[in-house]
Amino acid sequence: MRRALLVALLSFAACGALAGGSQDMVLGRMVAARPDAPSVAQTTHARSHYVLHCAGCHGVAGAGAPEKYVPGLQQLGLFLQVAGGREFVISVPGVMGSGLDDRQVAEVANWLLATMAKDSVPAGHRPYTTAEVTQARAKPLVDVAAERARLVERARAAGITIQ
Ligand code: HEC
Repeated sequence: MRRALLVALLSFAACGALAGGSQDMVLGRMVAARPDAPSVAQTTHARSHYVLHCAGCHGVAGAGAPEKYVPGLQQLGLFLQVAGGREFVISVPGVMGSGLDDRQVAEVANWLLATMAKDSVPAGHRPYTTAEVTQARAKPLVDVAAERARLVERARAAGITIQ
C-alpha cells in the first residue's frame, strides 16, 4: 500500500517535471560523450582495491603520513633491490590483514610498483604472482620494525638510501 503511494507520488513528480517543461533540464543523453575522460581510462580494479584498503592510511598518492608512522609508498621499489625486500613488501600487516585475497594482493602490489612507485623499481623486476603471496602468508612477519631496520641497513651497505 505504502509502495503504491510512493510510486504514485514519484510518477506525479516525474510528469510534473516533464510537463512543467523546465527548458534547461539536462538529460543524460544530452551530455556530450567523453571517450577520453581520464577517470574512466585510469580506474582499474587494483586501483579501487588500493583506494578502499590502503589509501586511508597511505594516502591516495602513496605519500604516507610520517607523523603517524605510516611510510610513503612512492619509493617502494627500493626494497626490491635488497635481499628479503621483495617478501617484505607483501608481508607487512597492512597488506596481509587487508582482507584482500592472494591474487588481489599481488595485483595491488604490482599496480603500486607500476604507478606511484615506478621510478624506484629496478630494471628486470618481475611482477608478483599469486603463489608468491600465498607463500609469504605462510610466514607472517613477526617484528615489522626490526625487519625493516635490517633491510634499510642492508640497503645502506649497498649504497641505497631507504627513508
Ligand atoms: C591501518 C593503516 C594501514 C592500512 C589500511 C595499510 N597500511 Fe601499509 N602500513 C601501515 C603502517 C603503520 C606501516 C608501517 C609498518 C607497520 O607498522 O606495519 C605500513 C607499512 C607498509 C609497507 C612497508 C613500507 C615501508 O616503507 O616500510 C607497505 C609496502 C604497505 N604498508 C603497503 C600497504 C598496502 C598495499 C595496503 C593495502 C592493501 C596497506 N599498506 C594498508 C599502515 C597501513
